[in-house]
Amino acid sequence: MEPNKEKWGSRWGFLLATAGSAIGLGNIWRFPYVTGVNGGAAFVCVYIVSILVVGLPLMIAELAIGRAAGCHPAWAFDRFTAGKRTPVTDCLGIILILSGLLMVLFGRPGHALLLLFFGIFLAVKGWKCIGVTVGVIVPFIIMSYYGVIGGWTVIYMFKAFAGGLEFATPDQAASVFKPIVSAAKGQEFSLCSAHALFVAAAAAVVFAGVRNGIEKSSKVLMPLLFILLGALVLRGVSLPGASRGLRFFLSPDFKALGPESVLIAMGQAFFTLSLAMGITMTYGSYLKRDVNIVRSSLLVIGLDTLAAVLAGVAIFTSVFAMKLDPAQGPGLVYMVVPSAFNLVPGNLGWLWNGLFFMMLTIAALTSFISLLEPLVGYATRQFGLSRHGASLLVAVSVYLAGLLSAFGCADWRHLRPLEKFFKMFFLDAGPSFFELADNFASNWMLPLGGLAIAVFCGWVWGSKRALKEVRRGTKSGRLDTDLLVLLAGFSNREYPRQSLFTPAILWSLAIRWVTPVLVIFAFLYGIGVL
Ligand code: ALA
Repeated sequence: MEPNKEKWGSRWGFLLATAGSAIGLGNIWRFPYVTGVNGGAAFVCVYIVSILVVGLPLMIAELAIGRAAGCHPAWAFDRFTAGKRTPVTDCLGIILILSGLLMVLFGRPGHALLLLFFGIFLAVKGWKCIGVTVGVIVPFIIMSYYGVIGGWTVIYMFKAFAGGLEFATPDQAASVFKPIVSAAKGQEFSLCSAHALFVAAAAAVVFAGVRNGIEKSSKVLMPLLFILLGALVLRGVSLPGASRGLRFFLSPDFKALGPESVLIAMGQAFFTLSLAMGITMTYGSYLKRDVNIVRSSLLVIGLDTLAAVLAGVAIFTSVFAMKLDPAQGPGLVYMVVPSAFNLVPGNLGWLWNGLFFMMLTIAALTSFISLLEPLVGYATRQFGLSRHGASLLVAVSVYLAGLLSAFGCADWRHLRPLEKFFKMFFLDAGPSFFELADNFASNWMLPLGGLAIAVFCGWVWGSKRALKEVRRGTKSGRLDTDLLVLLAGFSNREYPRQSLFTPAILWSLAIRWVTPVLVIFAFLYGIGVL
């Protein structure tokens, strides 16, 4: 398989595109309410530790695998194993097949079918199975519902600027939000067209290519996102009573922190850093050899965390200043926030809401673009299509699949035949198609994909060879300098001593042991075993 010809034009272009992928609905829609109900700053601390222990090692691993392979994840793993099966995939395949057979005995045909499908796929195709799952199946499933939320955000942005969000209480806000979420009669047209507009805008960027589309758009959209976020933060903190919001969001409450908060923080780290979705590995395959992967990962993680914290500050200062209830879970952004902005003195609710939803649309759009790219990369290679043809094909397929989530978000009312089909195999289809897709992707596929990537990098490719790739582009010796010496601003030459406390050793330990073990815990928690 020929390596990719397309490459990032500049380091900044790559950094902003990767940060654009990371900063999305996960930061602005999910992080603030999860933090709010899990102990505020106490949760932020746990989250930062999870990001450093699980997120950072995996991000470095994905970028290194992507760059060393130079191609889409579907072929990347095979480049290191020469297309051969390995004991790891053989054993895993057999375990999945046996579990599938066990599920047949337990009378769970849906689980049995899924396990048998992946088990046989894995046993026959080896790492190619992991590559296709991580780089094609997972981004496709996530995109199908992510695009729908993108569509709602577009509707809200237009409504806000047109003065259509002028309610003063979350109850009134519910009368706008609920019909959209439940695809009520009369909403079909706006729901489908906003969803189509969102997918088309992202596809147009991917259509234009890596440098001319993704990179150029990120250079404009990411600074714009931070400017909008900055304006909303300034508005929020300047309101009387804002400090109560800051206290709620940022003062640590260790009592609200339970063992599950640690696992929630880990799940959040996966989603927000776009790990195990094929994105980071694909973006890594466009990287030039002289880019410092470790520094880039740290910068992306820093920008991502900054965006999440700023979003929380903008939201909670306004919500508390306007004396609204912050504990609204997922409805916080679509119901409480618009009400809060409408109550802000100055009668500029339309403007603050318009800017807020514009910022949210940009965040969602840059992430959606990054989810499209692995699929487009796959379609060009697998089907021999041009980038333009592949972008069109992928956009149309993702849009059509997304309609299932658009009409199956609140419940199964619009999708009864599909519900029957799922029930026939899965027994429990959950409250809605939307939740089924999200649960399957976030709780099953992301941790399992992350685990596979860590095991591959640490044990199959091997931490020694992987480190060789990570070292490219770094100042020579830096990764092997004692961490304390490095943090103090010195080099190995000034303090030459043999140390085990080096970034290289820590990363290798993390990717071989710590990350896999923690991810297994997160997975067992996510599927309800723990
Ligand atoms: N990383 C993206 C987000 O946080 C997918 O929304």
